[in-house]
Amino acid sequence: MLSTSLRTGRAGALRASNAGEHVTLGGWVHRSRNLGGIVFLDLRDLDGIVQVSFGTDWASAECIAAAAAVGVESVVVITGAVVPRSENTRNAEMGTGDVEVQGVSLTVVGPAVTPVIPVARGRGEKLAAEELRLRHRYLDLRRADLQANLVLRHKLLQESRRYLSERGFLELETPILTKPTPEGARDYLVPSRVHPGEFYALPQSPQIYKQLFMICGFDRYFQIARCFRDEDLRADRQPEFTQIDIEGSFVTQDDILALAEGLISSIWRVAGVEIPASFPRMTYADAMERFGCDRPDLRYGLEIVDYTPAFRDVAFNITTSVIESGGRVRGIIVPGGAAWSRKQVDEVESLAKAAGAGGLMRLRRLDGKLDGPMAKFLEGNPAFADLVEGSLMLFVAGADRISHPALDRVRQECAKRLELVRDGDRQFVIVTDFPMFDRDPSTGTLAAVHHPFTAPHAADVAAFPDKPEAWRALAYDVVLNGTELGGGSIRTSDPALQSRMFELLGIGDQEEQERRFGFLLEALRAGAPPHGGIAFGFDRIVMLLAGAPSLRDVIAFPKTTAARAMFENAPTHVPAADIADLHIRLKEQP
Ligand code: AMO
Repeated sequence: MLSTSLRTGRAGALRASNAGEHVTLGGWVHRSRNLGGIVFLDLRDLDGIVQVSFGTDWASAECIAAAAAVGVESVVVITGAVVPRSENTRNAEMGTGDVEVQGVSLTVVGPAVTPVIPVARGRGEKLAAEELRLRHRYLDLRRADLQANLVLRHKLLQESRRYLSERGFLELETPILTKPTPEGARDYLVPSRVHPGEFYALPQSPQIYKQLFMICGFDRYFQIARCFRDEDLRADRQPEFTQIDIEGSFVTQDDILALAEGLISSIWRVAGVEIPASFPRMTYADAMERFGCDRPDLRYGLEIVDYTPAFRDVAFNITTSVIESGGRVRGIIVPGGAAWSRKQVDEVESLAKAAGAGGLMRLRRLDGKLDGPMAKFLEGNPAFADLVEGSLMLFVAGADRISHPALDRVRQECAKRLELVRDGDRQFVIVTDFPMFDRDPSTGTLAAVHHPFTAPHAADVAAFPDKPEAWRALAYDVVLNGTELGGGSIRTSDPALQSRMFELLGIGDQEEQERRFGFLLEALRAGAPPHGGIAFGFDRIVMLLAGAPSLRDVIAFPKTTAARAMFENAPTHVPAADIADLHIRLKEQP
């Protein structure tokens, strides 16, 4: 199947069963050794490397000279005979290690200049600096690890398509040139040449379009969708990324979550990993209370405990004033932490402070007694019975808004220091019942926690009609080991409620609503079924399954954390005339 007019197959695929065949192979010269009478070339292609030898017994003098002269990374076509290697020259580390090819002809079809960075083959080989590798991506992508990641990516994509198509989901495409969205600040804008002063936006996700499909009657949709977000980048965020985007009609949250579990299990199976058929569920409130975060890493415990009642009657300035102002005293127990030095605990404290806490209080049990600044107030209090000999308690006193992120950070750091995570540990969890809105404490305005099209729990709307911050949303996230793999919700299909949601989000003016979301409201008024969906971050899935540390290792041509494409050098300045054509004037010409 892989044979073409120019080759018989892939070099790296040759095995003992091919011995005796006459082959024509094309590939890159990975390494060459000239031992005088015989020249060895390691010929590399996508399947691996095969050793090709040019010896006086079977190759002409010109051919041997050509093999000796060819530079590494040049592309060559060779012909020769596949022969078994002798017992003592077999190489168990190479897929092709039972054979070699005795070359009889060699043509250099793509000579290479000396490569700027070496093309490493094995895991653990020292790599050039990442910037340099990104700059010379055409060389870096010759590396076995990256090639394996992209091959895996392909397989996982095909499996996602198969799984969803077999269940009646249609793969439908949506536009890339779209309308700026409510979260406008993170939109990439595209100026229109033919409409002066007007802009398209690149989609942050196909959200509205997939809802429109539901309204049209395409009741099962999916898309491997490219999304664009101009946000601050981290190892697990890229400005341009891929979602497995899914929507269905006449569904409940449980229907979407069952589909999500099935899809994830089948994707993991293709990567050779069996996982449970369903994942534990946890409400947002529970996740925040126990882990201080809405995507908890459940590979370890170190759960947060509320010690407020125990501190209520303790005359300790900090805790008393926090409790009086409605805050709480919460903390985690670190087994064995009593042995940590003051410096070590100070290091953990500095992370808590960076996350917003005023400080990290400490209490430990040593030689049977409580030890720490508050010990004398707490000795004998049954609330601290869990603080067993040798353990350390770390507390944050404050409003939940402050203690949640600080304790989340402390918990993660302690798990790292205690080496609680073992290779291969895997803990999925589905977090449900997110709040519908988040109120900005400084401006008092509401923002949607998931997005404005998410439906609230009807019971909450009925119970607290004038207190939208108390409404829970029919929104959910799928989390693995502290990484959000995907998120979705049941949508608002009632146009009146959708209009109310916009109003709560500060888009109260009917005219403005129609201008910004008229196309959705109009469509909802045309007869909308109940619908909902989910989107998975596909790059994140590949990254986790490839065991890669960054999304950059599973995206062929990624951006740096500064949102730059190093190889093609984008973004870039464009000639002033081109900008003028777009009816745009720059504040300052670069
Ligand atoms: P959300 O914004 O939660 O939902 O995105 C869904 C998933 O996409 C992934 N993701 C990213 N991956 C890489 N780089 C990024 N910058 C990035 N941002 C998000 C995450 C996330 O869980 N339309 C809704 C889905 C829905 O409601 O159906 C949406 O986009 O893994």
